[in-house]
Order: sequence, then structure tokens, then C-alpha cells
Amino acid sequence: MSRLLVVSNRLPVTVSAAQGEAIVTPSMGGLSTGLRGPFERSQGLWIGWPGDLSKLDDAARAGAMKELEALRTLPVELTADELRQYYEEFANGVLWPVFHYLLDRIPVHSGGWEMYRRVNAKFAAAVAAQYRPGDTIWVHDYQLLLLPGMLREQLPGARIGFFLHIPFPASEVFRMLPWREDVLQGMLGADLIGFHTPSYARNFASAVVRLLGHEPIVDELSVAGRKVRFRAFPMGIDTETFTAKVPPSDEVFRPRPGEHLLLGVDRLDYTKGIRRRLSAVERVLERRPDLRGKLRMLQIAVPSREKVTAYQDYRRRVEEMVGAINGRCSTLTDAPIHYMYRGFPQEQLIELYRAASVMLVTPTRDGMNLVAKEFAASRTDGDGVLVLSEFAGAAEEMPEALQVNPFDVDGMAQAIEQAIDMSEGERRTRMAGLRARVLRFDVHRWAEDFLAALADDETGAAVEP
Ligand code: UDP
Ligand code: G6P
Repeated sequence: MSRLLVVSNRLPVTVSAAQGEAIVTPSMGGLSTGLRGPFERSQGLWIGWPGDLSKLDDAARAGAMKELEALRTLPVELTADELRQYYEEFANGVLWPVFHYLLDRIPVHSGGWEMYRRVNAKFAAAVAAQYRPGDTIWVHDYQLLLLPGMLREQLPGARIGFFLHIPFPASEVFRMLPWREDVLQGMLGADLIGFHTPSYARNFASAVVRLLGHEPIVDELSVAGRKVRFRAFPMGIDTETFTAKVPPSDEVFRPRPGEHLLLGVDRLDYTKGIRRRLSAVERVLERRPDLRGKLRMLQIAVPSREKVTAYQDYRRRVEEMVGAINGRCSTLTDAPIHYMYRGFPQEQLIELYRAASVMLVTPTRDGMNLVAKEFAASRTDGDGVLVLSEFAGAAEEMPEALQVNPFDVDGMAQAIEQAIDMSEGERRTRMAGLRARVLRFDVHRWAEDFLAALADDETGAAVEP
């Protein structure tokens, strides 16, 4: 059995400093929360960035290192310059908006490509130092698009998989990227490339044909005599976590009797469509005076990429909007939007998922969106309505959700009303359909499928997921 080396920018835990002490907490975001379970079942090693350790003294640092080692993780530390140029300016300043079709978010002077290449090379060196013949390397996400190609040069015989957790855009959009050929060549260093949906895989194929002239045969390409396969592997969630009973937390949340609770749970990211969602909720309040005082929206916004200007701007605009709506629609006893700028542990999210009448997942683009699946899995009571953007990867697998176009704010408002007014029978029928699929295709199966496909070539040995 070969060993699994997982590589991603962010480790499944993040180290931070509080009064010189190291605090190790679970990382947030779908890649970390999703992959954590399959990784724990493997005997593997996870290589990635542990967060900023620069404020730790030697003793705290040594303690953090021990903890990371016990979790089978290997930190790749990044300097302040590396973080700024590779992570903030390039990965999150350029690649993130291009891959999510939000071209107006790209700064005019977008630097960072050279540093992006250098940091990918730094990861390549860290992986190569750990690699033993027979190991399987599984690289994740847009921060490390060049890594498969770099590893292929250093370890020509290695088995390398790559998974993209965000959309792969239409080739018309992808080709705007000045470094488009290098990016594709980097990805093609892998033996198997995974995407969340078939349409992302198709977009990738058309970019490869158009920009590199390689013609795929179904889901396979020949690159310099090597076979490269690409396919959709829709990611699931660790269903056991969400179907489990959770003891009430210290901070118990109880909706008021007769109240319709609308819930939003997102990283504070401009791809999540939070402003349009708030605007739709306001329209419902305007159109339905009967719901005033009975409708509350709880929006959790997890701090994310706070040094990137586009994120700072978006936060300001979201918070202005919350204030404006509450200013217009509050009564002496109630404010309709309850907004929190912080993250919660998943046990507490489960409580909220179970308390909600309607879950609002309305990104303008999202690779998959695990929150939508977590909501369905948590509803062991079989009730609750999911309003889901048709631009989330999850929409392809969740036809029983009320699907909306997040650019059509009126349409979203109508869907929210429909969700509130829906009969219990219809809610249960829809939820049963959602749950059946989410519970069946969980994240362990996802990882097993990907790793089995990666192992399934002429030279392949079995790989333990
Ligand atoms: N999450 C969390 N605490 C929070 C909010 C979110 O642990 O307060 C987790 C959530 O359970 C989910 C992940 O963060 O597993 C978000 O993944 P998703 O695919 O929905 O979006 P991403 O953040 O990756 O864009
Ligand atoms: C998304 C990305 C992940 C990333 C996560 C959190 O899920 O696909 O690669 O880890 O967001 O973002 P951060 O920048 O904090 O790692």
C-alpha cells in the first residue's frame, strides 16, 4: 500500500498567536473541512501552510510544531512577502476572481505571478523531500496550479493527482489570463485532474484544445507521450458529523415561537452573493407586511482574506447594507437581519442548520458549496427548505432545492416567499430527495473514487484512501 501525500495551500488546522501563545484551530473553507475526514482515515501526510507563525516565541513555536507533527501535517512556512504576493495578490487577487467570472475585481496592476511560481516551487521542494517511491501525491486547488508540472519534472515516475475546488471557467474567460498556457501546463503535470462538475471538466478540455492544441479523446489527453485524464468528482461531506446528535452549546440558539428563520452561512466573500440575498430579503419584507416581526435572517459571515482590498470593500458594503435594511425595517423590539462577522465550530453550525426554516445559499459562482449539503444532512427531522443558486456546483446534484438565479433579486424574493409558504408535505418530499443523495455520495466515497481512478492505470498499485 502506498502512502498518501496531500498538498494544499492551507493545512486543515491553522496556527495563530494570542498573547504569544500558539492556538491551533480547525481551518474553515470547504477544502479543509471536507478533506479532513478522508485524510484522518489515511496513513498519509498533509503538506501545507500552517498560518502566520511569526509572532510566536521559540517555546510557543516548538509547541505548535509538535502539535502539527502529531496531526501528521508538515508545515510549509511562508514569509510576509511570499504571502502578500503569492496568496493575496495573485492567488486571491487574480486567479480567484477570474475563475469565478468576476473580472471587475481584478486590480489593474496585478502583480505576483513571479512569486506565485516561486512559492509553487517551494511547495515542490517540500513534497519532493518527503516523497518515497510508491507514494501517491494529491495536490489541491488554485493556489498550486503549477505544482503538478513542477513535481512531474522532479519526480517523473510519481503518481500525481490534482483536484480543483473552484469552478474552471469557460475558455472565453480563462483565456484572459496572461499566464494561461503556463497554468494549463502546470495542471497537466498530473495523471488525473478532478473537478466538481462535468461542465468545469468540459471548460478545461476546451481551454486545452484552444490554447495548447491538444485534442482530448473523451476524458483523456496525451501530453508529451503521457496519459492525462480529467473528470468530474463531485465532492460530498462527512455525513456522520452532520447526522450526529449534538449537545446544545453554551451559546444556545432558539428561534422564537412562530418565527421563520432564514439562515446564511458563508465566508465573507464577494462570490457568495450576500448583498443580493439581503436585498431579496428586504423585498420580501416590503411585499409581505404580514411577515414583519415574524421573519428573521441570521447571516454568519466568516472573516476571510482580510488583507485583500476586494474583500475589505465587500465587507464594508455588506455591513452598510445590513445597517440600512435594519434601519428601514426594524421595529422597537426587532431587527430583521442578525449579522455576525465571525466563524463557528461545525457543532454549532449544525444547531443553526436544524433551527432554520429556510437556508439561503445564493452565490453568484461557487465551485461546489458544501454548506448546502451540510444543511440537508443536518436535517434529520426531514424538514427545512433549501434555496440554492443555480451557479453553485452543488445545484447539479440538488434538483429538489428551490433553485434561483442570484442576479434576479425579484426572483429570489419570490423563491423565499415560496419557501416560507410551502406546505409541510412538499418540504418533506423535497428534503427527502436532497438527503438521499447527500448521504449516499459522502466525502469518503469521493476520496475513494478519486484515488481509485488515480491508481487505475497500467502501472497502478492500490492506494489506501
Ligand atoms: N464553516 C465553519 N464555520 C463557519 C462557517 C463555515 O466551519 O462559521 C465551514 C462549513 O461547515 C463548510 C465550510 O466552512 O464546511 C465552507 O465550505 P463551502 O464549500 O460552503 O465554501 P468555501 O468557504 O469553501 O468557499
Ligand atoms: C475555498 C478555497 C480553499 C480555501 C478556502 C478558505 O474553499 O477553495 O482553497 O482554503 O476557500 O480560504 P483561505 O484563503 O482562508 O484558505
